[in-house]
Amino acid sequence: MQVSIIGGGGLVGSCAAFALQCGKIVRGIDLIDVNAELVGGQALDLLHGSCLTADQQIRSGDTSLVKQSDIIVITAGLRRKPDESRLDLINRNVQLFRGILADIKKVGTKPGAIVFVVSNPVDVLTYLAIKELGLPPAQVIGLGTVLDTSRLRSLMAEKLQVPPSQVSTLILGEHGDSMVPIWSAAQIAGLPLEKWPGYSTTLIQEVEKRTRGSGAEVIKKKGGAGFAVGLSITDVINSIALDQRRILPVSSLVNGLYGIRDVAISVPTVVGRAGVLSQIEIDLWPKEKTGLTNSARVLRETIEKVL
Ligand code: LAC
Repeated sequence: MQVSIIGGGGLVGSCAAFALQCGKIVRGIDLIDVNAELVGGQALDLLHGSCLTADQQIRSGDTSLVKQSDIIVITAGLRRKPDESRLDLINRNVQLFRGILADIKKVGTKPGAIVFVVSNPVDVLTYLAIKELGLPPAQVIGLGTVLDTSRLRSLMAEKLQVPPSQVSTLILGEHGDSMVPIWSAAQIAGLPLEKWPGYSTTLIQEVEKRTRGSGAEVIKKKGGAGFAVGLSITDVINSIALDQRRILPVSSLVNGLYGIRDVAISVPTVVGRAGVLSQIEIDLWPKEKTGLTNSARVLRETIEKVL
């Protein structure tokens, strides 16, 4: 499995590369960036550790490398300022992103290649990639609320002093201000969260608020997210590479589910070697369903305004 990362010189791209290298699942990692010197340095640093990981082939170069990729990750783009929403970025990032899509189209992709969008605003750019690349929509995936879900689980675990991997909570909708935590399904070690010692509505409100603001908090403190987003990207890539068919809150084209049409948004999605295998609709609390519809409306309005 060959993975290329466009934007591989940056914080998100290089952290994703490192997480993939440590994950030992994919065979080759190609880093691509407009800053050739920087991306060369990132690749060299990874290469220096290759004898201690899984003998992966690490390379850097330009977009021509994507024609050999099974998965093309796009992390390139400008980062928002702490007080900007992800949607505020749109005007600045759409131009740049269209250029990247044009480069990918020019080079051409392998049959069955998956395009995995991470750049923000991720749902809108995933939709744009679906429209412009001409690939089957199942082969275009956005990171969506995978990172938000990871933050929610980890922050909840810290509050309740339980193992993070045993916290099962989920965020759906927009990777942005209108994200929707699905508290109706929250469990710890298979037991209902609302029965857990220490649980209170104040506690979930606090954790939800911190999660919603986590992207901005990390930007303020260290310039931007890196480690957790790298791990989140790797989690999705491993489900594709191993055809695990795990159910993940990635962003993909939704047409009909939860009454949502013609937007890329996070719903529970089965992810395997062919990309999006299916999307799952189960009954949620009415306020969660309303939240999802609201997220879809926010995204649809942005698409209509900008694309
Ligand atoms: C964040 C960026 C990756 O949430 O959107 O940190």
